[in-house]
Amino acid sequence: MPEEKFIPNASVGSSKDHPFKKPETNRRSFLSWLSVGWIAYLGVTGGFFTIIVRFLFPNVLFEPPQSFKIGFPDDFSKNSVDVKFKKQFNAWIVRDDESIFALSTVCTHLGCTPNWLPVESKFKCPCHGSGFRMSGIHFEGPAPRPLERFKISLANDGQILVDKTKSYKWEKGEWENPESFLKV
Ligand code: FES
Repeated sequence: MPEEKFIPNASVGSSKDHPFKKPETNRRSFLSWLSVGWIAYLGVTGGFFTIIVRFLFPNVLFEPPQSFKIGFPDDFSKNSVDVKFKKQFNAWIVRDDESIFALSTVCTHLGCTPNWLPVESKFKCPCHGSGFRMSGIHFEGPAPRPLERFKISLANDGQILVDKTKSYKWEKGEWENPESFLKV
């Protein structure tokens, strides 16, 4: 009987580095390169379409209208400042004993936005401390002139119409202009 030949395990494929494993490794590597390729392709395509969309629909600034209705004269109480149009329209609506007027919220020093302080009955600018009376006249701080007023009138339906395309400066005597206030 012929003697059986002893073949050690190490020589018949027990090793992890067997050449038959190589195609598997190559396939994995191919797949990962394919994924990278896809990601790159999608990135470039996405960027391209973003540019096209931005070109077709450019950024448009939606600014609030320059002319707007604010309600009826009776909606505003005497000797008070209405701040509800400050954020959207940059205007305060002030009613004193005999008139209603619209004040610009732009500080005449360097353009910051003051705050209305009802207890102290003044507009106070947070930037450099300018103060303005309810009328808009400056009285403290570096602001060189009063706040500006906007054109104000009564619309056909009886509501107050403010038009910011026209403003009136006290130092030029423009507050005398009947378009700068509404008699009530
Ligand atoms: S910007 Fe208002 S005080 Fe300077």
